[in-house]
Parts: sequence; C-alpha cells; structure tokens
Amino acid sequence: MAMLVVRACTPLIPTPLPAAVGEAASMNKSSTCSTRAARVLVLGGTGRVGWSTATALSKLRRPDLNILIGGRNREKGKSLASKLGKRSEFVQVDIHDASMLEEALCGVDLVVHAAGPFQREDKCTVLEAAISTKTPYVDVCDDVDYSWRAKGFHKQAEASGVPAIITAGICPGVSNCLHIPFTL
Ligand SMILES: NC(=O)c1ccc[n+]([C@@H]2O[C@H](COP(=O)([O-])OP(=O)(O)OC[C@H]3O[C@@H](n4cnc5c(N)ncnc54)[C@H](OP(=O)(O)O)[C@@H]3O)[C@@H](O)[C@H]2O)c1
Repeated sequence: MAMLVVRACTPLIPTPLPAAVGEAASMNKSSTCSTRAARVLVLGGTGRVGWSTATALSKLRRPDLNILIGGRNREKGKSLASKLGKRSEFVQVDIHDASMLEEALCGVDLVVHAAGPFQREDKCTVLEAAISTKTPYVDVCDDVDYSWRAKGFHKQAEASGVPAIITAGICPGVSNCLHIPFTL
C-alpha cells in the first residue's frame, strides 16, 4: 500500500507498509535529486503546527537530520530556523507556485505539509509535487473536502512508490489512534 488514509472517527486497521515502498521512494529520489543527509521539509514551519513539528523533530537528537523550515516569510523563517541549530535552514516557498514547490522538494526525504488553512485550497499542490518528485509526504489536513481530494491521488502515489499519509494531525489524526474503550 503506497498511501495511508487516516479518516476521522475511523478505527485504524494496522497495515504494515512494505519495506519496498520506502526503499523505492528513496531510490527514486536519489535518481532524480542529489543525495545528502536526511532532510525533512516542514511547510508552514513558521506557523503554530509546523513550528511545533519542527521543534519536536529537533528534539529527536538526530545529528544527521536537517530540518528545513518552509514558508513565504523569509525574515520570520530565517529567524526560526536559526533557533534549531546549524543544520537547519529556511526555504522560501509558496505552495501555490508549482515550480518553486518542486525545487524545494528536490533532495528532501520527507515533506510535512502544515501550510494551512487547508479549507481554502481547491488543489492538493503539495501532494502533487510530492508525487512528481517522489517525496514521502505527511499532512495535517483537517478539512473533509481536501482529504477526499487528496485521497483521489492514491493510485498516482502508489504508482510512484510514494508513501503519503493524509490528515495526520491531532484531530483528525492522532485522535483516530486513541481507541480507548470507556465503561460508563
Ligand atoms: N489536524 C489537526 O489536528 C490540526 C490542528 C491544528 C491545525 N490544523 C491545520 O493546520 C494548518 C496550519 O495551522 P496553524 O495553526 O499552524 O496555522 P498558522 O499558524 O496560521 O500557520 C500557517 C503556516 O502556513 C504557511 N503558509 C500559509 N500559506 C502559505 C503558502 N501559500 N505557501 C507557503 N506557506 C504558507 C504560513 O507561513 P507564511 O505566511 O510565512 O507563508 C505559516 O507558516 C491549518 O490548516 C489548520 O487548520 C490541523
């Protein structure tokens, strides 16, 4: 399975990703982009959710991890990226600019899409760019229409060997995993 779809109020059925999916994605990446240390691009990295994500990643104590903060505001982005240390940098990108997006994703091993609001989007530009650049993808979408639109890319993601997890924020997302039985 190349694409996991996390839906609100749907119990998760654990389905292990075949190892080949991740391997295929990284092989695909290295054939089109130059290889380098692990790089995670957090789009919306200057926002509330994206910055929390970037900060959490920085606490993993993985010296080989480069965290890229993506957004439009250079001043804010550079200032925040500098707080994460020398291995982090700001990448100026507008998710509505396809060529800018593809350039930003080149050499990236994972893109976390937190550049909302998702409610205003009528296209899945980041997911499309992730598929075309063969970049593993996670988003924190919290909009039903957007998530169905994203789900429409399942076959394309699968054909490209790109793992893509949609609606993986807190709610929906992590809340879907809280499968706790309550007794009244
Ligand atoms: N699933 C969940 O549990 C959950 C929870 C909270 C939020 N969310 C969703 O996550 C999204 C972000 O929430 P937030 O609270 O972090 O919002 P926020 O603080 O307003 O941050 C939005 C971020 O997106 C960036 N951005 C906006 N438009 C952009 C564009 N065209 N190109 C590139 N970057 C762009 C902004 O940076 P620049 O303006 O500098 O470009 C900023 O970094 C929202 O859609 C929200 O609904 C989901």
